[in-house]
Amino acid sequence: MNQTGIRFSKKSQRTPESPISYFMEQALRNPHLISLAAGMVDSGSLPVEHISATVSELLADPKVARAALQYGTTQGHRKLRENLLTHLHNLDGVDPRQNHVSVEEVVVTTGSQQLLYLLSELLLDAEDIVITEAPSYFVYHSVLQGTGVEIRTVPMDEEGMIVETLDELLKSLDESGDLRRVKLIYTVDYFQNPTGLTLSSERRKAFMEVVQRFSAKQRLLVLEDAAYRELRYDGEDLPSLKSMDANNQNIIYSGTFSKPCSPGLKTGYAMLPADLVEPLIRLKGNHDFGSSNLAQYILNHVWETGRYHTHVAHLRDVYRLKRDAMLDALQTEFGEISGAEWTSPHGGMFVWLTLPEGTLTGTGTPLLRAAIDEGVLYIPGEFGHIEIDGKKPRNEMRLSFGDATIPMIHEGIRRLRVAFDKSNLARIEKRGLVSSAI
Ligand SMILES: Cc1ncc(COP(=O)(O)O)c(C=O)c1O
Repeated sequence: MNQTGIRFSKKSQRTPESPISYFMEQALRNPHLISLAAGMVDSGSLPVEHISATVSELLADPKVARAALQYGTTQGHRKLRENLLTHLHNLDGVDPRQNHVSVEEVVVTTGSQQLLYLLSELLLDAEDIVITEAPSYFVYHSVLQGTGVEIRTVPMDEEGMIVETLDELLKSLDESGDLRRVKLIYTVDYFQNPTGLTLSSERRKAFMEVVQRFSAKQRLLVLEDAAYRELRYDGEDLPSLKSMDANNQNIIYSGTFSKPCSPGLKTGYAMLPADLVEPLIRLKGNHDFGSSNLAQYILNHVWETGRYHTHVAHLRDVYRLKRDAMLDALQTEFGEISGAEWTSPHGGMFVWLTLPEGTLTGTGTPLLRAAIDEGVLYIPGEFGHIEIDGKKPRNEMRLSFGDATIPMIHEGIRRLRVAFDKSNLARIEKRGLVSSAI
């Protein structure tokens, strides 16, 4: 029989191999490795008892049990959608009576990742432009690469995306006649993956002003990925961009139960401009005609019994200590290294470490090899960047305090410092003791 090779679709050929598989393999091969790489949530605080009690209660009522175990609707369990809308209002401090989003504009998805993917199918063609932060969530970059769109990026500082630069980018695209190609702006505006940075209150207003100004010429859509929003460890919550979208025209709000509750339930949700809902549901119908109904019933019950809120409050205490442990360990181990700096996130699970210029962190570099030899793993920062003129920063890394315990975080950062010294790539310089000319 003449077997020829498979001709994969253009989309499949454009979709890059996941850089993470290498890291998973390393972690599996070496169980003593401390992984500060994976985006796993804290295993020890997963809501085992809450979910166990919830499932028993749900299944004890045969009528509810049968409804939960049956197929649901493509858009999602109505009660859960109503509760999610109330949840968003509560987070934003919005009076539901002045609300500009209705339950008809809430869609439940199979994790927020499904929403990210479905929106790319719904909106994007190869000739389009998508604007993201630099760096950004690298799995989303991979989704975008599959579509063939042009990715343009806007840098960040400690207040999140630099909105002035976004304004300049949109102006230059307008001047070159390319504004009409801009389909989406993607922002992870709370405790971003990978940097931990948050769009500040002032910047939120400036961002909306820019989006609405350019929307007078060409309606701009923004995907506000709020995956980590509820994991806040200090300060007040900031209103979502969605809450500032008075006519529900520009902002697609994406939330998830994965981080504040359980990724195993793989349930996300979206609040959308009204005219996106029906086309999105049509596409989702072809994907799965509805996310797990049982998971939605469980989450709705967890929410209605107040267990969800109790759990999130507990998680905040757990992660706050882990965040502090990582920042302390970095100060101890890298505080004296000139050119080493890191973010101090107020939430989420990531710290972004920048090493001295010239210290390469990527796959195959002496530092990564030394780190694996020492028994610690991180995510190279270059995965979060798109090359511009063949270049991207290569001296950064994402460190996660999600799953590692506090002793593991201290030990992991200690090993990282040993690896840094051993790799001999950087010019080590004790601040104030040795001249930076060395
Ligand atoms: C920024 C961001 N968005 C979306 C997701 C998708 O998560 P899920 O599909 O579990 O909701 C993740 C997962 O890590 C993430 O970091």
